[in-house]
Amino acid sequence: MTNLQRLEQTRHEIELGLVNTFAREDDGLKQSLHLAKQAGLPTIQISPLQGKFLQFLATTCNASKILEIGSLAGYSGIWLARALPQHGRLITLEVDPKHANVVREAFAAAGVQDRTEVRVGSALETLPTLAAEAPFDLVFIDADKTPYPDYLEWALRLTRPGSIIVADNCIRGGAGFNSSDHTGVAEYNRRIANNPRLVSLALVMDDSYTDGFAISVVKPA
Ligand code: SAH
Ligand code: DHB
Ligand code: MG
Repeated sequence: MTNLQRLEQTRHEIELGLVNTFAREDDGLKQSLHLAKQAGLPTIQISPLQGKFLQFLATTCNASKILEIGSLAGYSGIWLARALPQHGRLITLEVDPKHANVVREAFAAAGVQDRTEVRVGSALETLPTLAAEAPFDLVFIDADKTPYPDYLEWALRLTRPGSIIVADNCIRGGAGFNSSDHTGVAEYNRRIANNPRLVSLALVMDDSYTDGFAISVVKPA
């Protein structure tokens, strides 16, 4: 075995141990993946450990109102919804009506339909309609990458001190820190790193160890 193969095997064993110990998928999460496959949706949902981390963050900020941008098949939404109290609410924004139908089915199968709502439309058109439902305790950004800086500005408007803002795909194998990156992600990282209202960092935490979340907490005013 080469050193590289040994390293990959070690990573694989670490991943298995972490997921088996801390982030086992319940039947609802499995059903979401099954429905996504059936509908031919891309396999671009977050990893189980990322899902558990979202639950952890939602719990640390006592979240009862959560906003998600980019639903896909409801996988991350189910992880988040399971962190909500009975009266809590997750609003998830999705541009593709076909995806939104799968999400609704997955939420119902996971038993979280009472506390979740899918809003169909381009997020930049839906976000300005959410003021009356703000502040959100946690915002999870995981839609198209070009408008990430705009999604951040909306997240800042729609949160409170102590709220947490999470964005997926902020590392992108290092491209997320490259000044010539044009996806919007590098600009997102610059803004959260330099905004005096935020404490931020990014963490490698997908299953290939090349991508991960950027996380920010809104400081007291
Ligand atoms: N958060 C999901 C994965 C989301 S994949 C999970 O981890 O389970 C990205 C999703 O964002 C796709 O479903 C895509 O249709 C949606 N999307 C892309 N552009 C969008 C936009 N402008 N507004 C809202 N949703 C968008
Ligand atoms: C893609 C989008 C994502 O949000 C992700 O986590 C991985 C891939 C994509 O559009 O290819
Ligand atoms: Mg993503």
